[in-house]
Amino acid sequence: MLNWERAGAILSLFIPAVWQEHAKSSSPFPQFLWDDHHGVRYKRRGQSGPVLSHLLDSAAVAAGRPDLRVEVLFESLDREVRIEAVAVRRVECAGRGDPDHLPGAARRISQHKTNKTIEKNMKIVIIGGSGLIGKKLVKNLRQRGHEVVAASPSSGVNTLTGEGLAEALVGASVVVDVANSPSFEDKAVLEFFETSGRNLLAAEAAAGVGHHIALSVVGTDRLLASGYFRAKMAQENLIKASAIPYTIVRATQFFEFVGAIAQSATDGQAVRLPPALMQPIVSDDVAAALAEIAVAEPLNGTVELAGPEPIHMDELVRRYLSANRDARKVTTDVHAGYFGTAVNDQSLIPGDHPRLGPTRFQDWLSRSVPQR
Ligand SMILES: NC(=O)c1ccc[n+]([C@@H]2O[C@H](COP(=O)([O-])OP(=O)(O)OC[C@H]3O[C@@H](n4cnc5c(N)ncnc54)[C@H](OP(=O)(O)O)[C@@H]3O)[C@@H](O)[C@H]2O)c1
Repeated sequence: MLNWERAGAILSLFIPAVWQEHAKSSSPFPQFLWDDHHGVRYKRRGQSGPVLSHLLDSAAVAAGRPDLRVEVLFESLDREVRIEAVAVRRVECAGRGDPDHLPGAARRISQHKTNKTIEKNMKIVIIGGSGLIGKKLVKNLRQRGHEVVAASPSSGVNTLTGEGLAEALVGASVVVDVANSPSFEDKAVLEFFETSGRNLLAAEAAAGVGHHIALSVVGTDRLLASGYFRAKMAQENLIKASAIPYTIVRATQFFEFVGAIAQSATDGQAVRLPPALMQPIVSDDVAAALAEIAVAEPLNGTVELAGPEPIHMDELVRRYLSANRDARKVTTDVHAGYFGTAVNDQSLIPGDHPRLGPTRFQDWLSRSVPQR
């Protein structure tokens, strides 16, 4: 008969065993509950948190305590701290079923409130760590106590040639790829994201990296008439085809990119732009979201990031130029493209459940434009 002593004993065996045994077999989870730790089997790492939650809930029911619910989340994939990485997020108790009545390992886990320990000492490599997003992400993750490597050609790491890559990845748990191609010419940009993607994913597999995160663009699959978006699509497809657990983060256009949009549409003093809807986001909010995603479990899927409010492209650029006292005039033209590619109100807008950055365009403009 399973009781809390037995559940605690199982847990103390189970937790280290999760990582030793995961991915070796496809035996279904419930066998484990009544088996010893050698029976632990997982198909995918991504299921571990919910599976552990289910284990504890099942144990509670089996022990005659269905009122006690325990939810478990894996906060980290760092091999060194995997056991620490199991954090009980929510313990709802009724009657005398408080966490203190849990024996041994179960109690220790329940008292491990959040991911403070896990949040330290992870080695995280930021590919493109010297770029707009990269610099902010490096700073953010260092402030959280991680060992962060800012990797890019200026620090001797080149994903295109492979130079310095294996060395940078030694001992890394997580890689965040926020690099960008120096050239946006169709052939060059495709070569950049394909070759870099292949080199990076192969080096990560060799180093045993547990989570690959890449920054892509909302609407990539709708904009394949553009060479840049075909290259981003190729980058995403390589990630999905690799065996490394991943999270693809598609962001909308950065506020900082609005000047480049204006420039691309400029002819003399005229800026010809379509009224297509956008929902841009500030780079700080992108970096903050990426930092959270970097220390969370891989989604093996895609998440979208956007700013707090939709705005038409022509109006966005008009406001930007006006705040910068730029004399160029925006002309609205439904036939004008976005860097030459046709767009409509759906092209650049996220789906139903994006994560929203809090910063409003107007607030950013007032902060970033020098006051005269
Ligand atoms: N701009 C937008 O509105 C927007 C919107 C959504 C998503 N994104 C995505 O966001 C990502 C980051 O954009 P960003 O504006 O932060 O980029 P960025 O400021 O242009 O920085 C590019 C970074 O890539 C690095 N890099 C260039 N060639 C490299 C190579 N061969 N190997 C390794 N690193 C290399 C650069 O390193 P060095 O400094 O050493 O050359 C730099 O750190 C891009 O993938 C882009 O597709 C952009």
